Formats: sequence, C-alpha cells, structure tokens
Amino acid sequence: MAEIKVRERWGSRIGVILAVAGSAVGLGNFLRFPGNAAQNGGGAFMLPYFISLLVLGIPMCWAEWTMGRYAGVRGFNSAPAIYTVIWRNRISKYFGSLAVLIPLVIYMYYVLIEAWCLGYAINYLTGSLMLGSDASKYSAFFANFVGIESDGALLAEGNRTWLLVLIGVFVCNFILIYRGVNKGIETFCKVAMPIMIVLGLIVLLRVLTLGTPDPTKPDQSVIGGLGFMWNPHPEKLWDFQTWLAASGQIFFSLSVGFGIIVNYASYLSEKDDLALSGLTSCSMNEFFEVCLGGLITLPAAFIFLGVAASGFTGSTFALGFQALPNVFAMMPAGQFFGFLWFFMLFVAAITSSVSMLQPVIAFLEEGFALKRHASAAVLGVLSAMGCLFVLYFSKNLVALDMMDFWVGSVALFMLAMIQSFLYAWMFGIKRGDEELHRGAHIRIPWVVQLMLKFVVPVYLAAIFIGFCYQKLPSFDKPEFETSARHAASLSDGLLSESLAAEFAKRELILPEEPAVLRERGGAADESWRIVDASENLLYRIVPGPDGLVIKSRQPGYVESISRSRVATLTVLFISVLFGFVLVLVHIAGRRWQAEGRFENIPA
Ligand code: PFF
Repeated sequence: MAEIKVRERWGSRIGVILAVAGSAVGLGNFLRFPGNAAQNGGGAFMLPYFISLLVLGIPMCWAEWTMGRYAGVRGFNSAPAIYTVIWRNRISKYFGSLAVLIPLVIYMYYVLIEAWCLGYAINYLTGSLMLGSDASKYSAFFANFVGIESDGALLAEGNRTWLLVLIGVFVCNFILIYRGVNKGIETFCKVAMPIMIVLGLIVLLRVLTLGTPDPTKPDQSVIGGLGFMWNPHPEKLWDFQTWLAASGQIFFSLSVGFGIIVNYASYLSEKDDLALSGLTSCSMNEFFEVCLGGLITLPAAFIFLGVAASGFTGSTFALGFQALPNVFAMMPAGQFFGFLWFFMLFVAAITSSVSMLQPVIAFLEEGFALKRHASAAVLGVLSAMGCLFVLYFSKNLVALDMMDFWVGSVALFMLAMIQSFLYAWMFGIKRGDEELHRGAHIRIPWVVQLMLKFVVPVYLAAIFIGFCYQKLPSFDKPEFETSARHAASLSDGLLSESLAAEFAKRELILPEEPAVLRERGGAADESWRIVDASENLLYRIVPGPDGLVIKSRQPGYVESISRSRVATLTVLFISVLFGFVLVLVHIAGRRWQAEGRFENIPA
C-alpha cells in the first residue's frame, strides 16, 4: 500500500476564490480582450461574448469545479487521475495528458511575456522608456526587447541584461509553487489580487480624467475613446469569426478548459461551496476584463493616437507593448503611470502562470510519488527547456505564435470538448447536480445541467469545426483586377516592372526578387503564380472577365508549418513533448493499477 500523503488544502474560502480568479485574470484580460473586441464589432462583440460566457464559460467552470472536488475528496489531484475517477475506463487517463501538456506549454511562452511586463515596468522606473512622441521608437524598442529581428538575438552579447529579469521571474514562479497551494499560491493571491484592483483603478481613473488633451483634436477625447471601443457594428454579428473570437476569449480568460480548475478544486473539502465560489471567481474575472481591460487599454490609445490606435489591434501584444508606451509618454506623470500599468500586468500574469505549473506538479507527485523538491526540479528543467526554445526562436515571434495556436487554441478546444463529454455523459448530470449542490450557498437551476449535456457539446463542436475550417486551410483572397495588357508581359522569370507597380500602388508587399511561374496543365495554362526565393506561393494571377485578377495567398496554419523551419520545429517540439507526457501518464497509470488506487472508488 502506498504511503498516504497528508492532503494539501486551501486555507480559506476567499483564498481559493482569489486563487482561481488570480489564474483567470491575466494578460488575456488587459491585452487580448480589448484587441479582440475592437476588431470583432466593438460593442456588438459583447453579445456573442456574453452568450458564450453564460452558455459555455460559467457552466463549464461549474463542471470543472464539480469534477475536481469529487475526485479531490477521494484523494486525487492530477487530471489523469481525476478523469479516471470521473470515468472508470482505461483510456480516461490519456485524456488527462492533454490537461498536463496544455498548461505546461502555455507556461513556456506566457512566462516570457510576463518577464516583458516586469522588464517594461523596470524600464519605466529607470526612465529608459520615456522616448518622446515618435511612435516608431516604441516599436523599435519592443522589437529589440523581444528579439524580433533574428533568432538568437536575445542571447547575443550586449543583449543579455534582461535575461536576468526572466530568470528572476522564473524563479519567483517556482518559489510560489514550491511552497504549495496554501502557503504559496493562496497567500500570494490574497495579496496580489487587491494590489491589482488598486493599481487598475488608479490607471483607470487617470485615463477617464484625461478629457481632451489636445484641443486641436476634439474627437480624441475620453468619450471618443469609449466610442471607438464600444460603438456597436451589428453587421459583425453575421460573421462567424466574431463568434469564434468571443468563445475563444471566454475560455482563455476564465482559464476554463485548461485542466487548471479541476486541479485547484481538488484541494477543496466535501463541505466547501462550489456553486457560489465558481460564480464569484468568474464575476471577478469579468470585472477585470470588461471594466478595467475594456475601459483602459483601447480608449487610452485612441485619446492620444486617434484611429491610428486601430493599427495596433491586430496583434495581441502590440497594443500593450507598442501603443501604450506612446500614450504614457504624452500623459502627465506618464512615467509613473507607465510603471504602475506594467507592474500590474506583471502581477496579473504571475498569478496566472503559477496556476499553469500546479497541475503539472500535482501530476508528477501523484504519478511518481515524487517529493516536492524533486517534482519542482523535473518541472523546472522541462519548462526551462521550452522557455529557452521560445526565447531562442524569437524571430517574428514564430515559435510563440505557433505554440499559442496549436496548444492555446486547438488543443484547448479539444480538452474542453473532452471535459464536457466526461462530465455530462460519463459522470452524469444528475450526479453532477447533486455534487455541485453539496455544501452550496446558492442553487443553480437544473437547466444549466441540461445545457451542459446538450447545448455545450454541440456549441463546442460547431465552433471547433468552424475554427478548423477557417484557420487551418490556406485560401486565395482576391486583391485587385488589372488590365489584360499585362498578360503579354508575363513569362517564366521575373515580374515585369509595370505589374510590380500595380502592386505598389495598392500597398501590396512583394519580396525583393519576386519570380513568376506558369501554372501547369489544362485550363490553368493561362494562370501564373508569384513566388518568393524559397518558392513559397505569394500571389496567383488568373484570367478574369475584364483582365487579370490578382489573388493573394493567405497561408493557413497547416501551410505555415511547411513554410517556416522554426514553425516545423515548434510543432515537432510540441509533438515530442506530448509523446513524452503520454508515456509518463501510461507509466503512472500502471503504478496506480499496481497499487490498487482506484479499487474502492465507485464506478
Ligand atoms: N486566464 C489567463 C488570462 O486571461 O491571461 C490565461 C491563462 C491562465 C491561460 C491559465 C491558461 C492558463 F492555464
């Protein structure tokens, strides 16, 4: 019989709520949400957003709390074991490997962005980020800071100082994890969450009292900024992309579907409330997201940058790291507020990143009976390797982007579907409802369970299929039509100057030496492709009704893997890691079986 460990526990109810909220409130709230909302219909985004919150987010959150506590009081904390308790089947534990892989991989790049935040905060303190009103200086600072120009740039001599910040941040995370859920995570979140609220409110107050800083531009006021973010564009509601973005945002923001809440909830006792605690942590997250994230980031950028601010909404991080420093430079006492803002982002990020480590630690301890220092050491080596990988392959942030897509989006949807299946169809909604209400301070209507059984899986599957359909395959986007006379200038070889000029007129980017190749075969004979030096397809030229139609190639995620060596390597890295986790789960499963760990658990 294995030695029975003293169960780890949360110290107080408010402690666990703050820890779960700490996991939820992070960079997603302040950086990802505003960009997402502004790009997908402004105020109109809030309709699919709130529907996703009510139909997917909160119900799935309750389901995770329920499964986690149910297995926790039976002595299990790691997702592979928890899923086995929920569904007594040999394959359940392998589903759990996703719930170990996802937080682990997300940690590898999230901790890097966390270190950027602290790095920026320090640069505000020292004044190095007060670069005046030239916007390009901030983009250059960011590019240099994160090594966008070339792979390995951050490890090059003269560029290494901020690596110390990264190491410091890494170590902080591990100290918190090493101290355990109660003394580490809970104690820290109880201090960090109030600090975040205070810092957030100070910055909010500053933004909302900016008035119209430049009288020559009366539109660029607080009201104008709020309108820029929130004016509804209802036509966007018919676009599938809006629904996709809204539901993805809900999952990412609430930390639902990552295997984190099941782990956190497993440290509760049978008498603890789930229903109200789950709802409270979701509500806290929404306060940070809609009230602070939604009112600070974009409105502030608009007040100073005007519609140019919209140029930054394309990338999740650009908005925070490139647009806002412009804003602080122009704002009275900007250096102080810049520091507060980035320090708050750092605090928000660290309460999230520790939550990514805890499920993995729990698995290493439970699966291999490792002591805390041994499990922390193994996890330290694993996550440092991944972090170095992202750090080294910094060019255009390809490695980071690939991990975020394949793990933070694709694998996440898969795990969310698996969890909804395990809860509603294997554990059963009747049992789930009873379990959720044991010790509950509020009653949750039965219809929520029905939704979990019938609506959530369909909603998730529909979104997942739509997501794959939109993001995975490549497609050709018609750009412009030009006169048929250009057809005569087309031949295998270089692009004619007159046609290149047509591209330049429309600000379409061509590589330095674009080559033209004729499509081969049948009706395609009159079609051409423009390729770059590595023969990647960039544009197609096809005959149209009134001349030539130029279409740009929009590579989907599948094609982008084969286009870039780093992207291929990243996918390989994730696959090898996944294989490794599967093997670990397999070995752990055999140990549990040999120890008879599940024998007394009812099916
Ligand atoms: N919910 C966090 C945020 O909004 O930034 C992000 C996050 C936390 C993602 C924990 C994944 C995770 F495991």
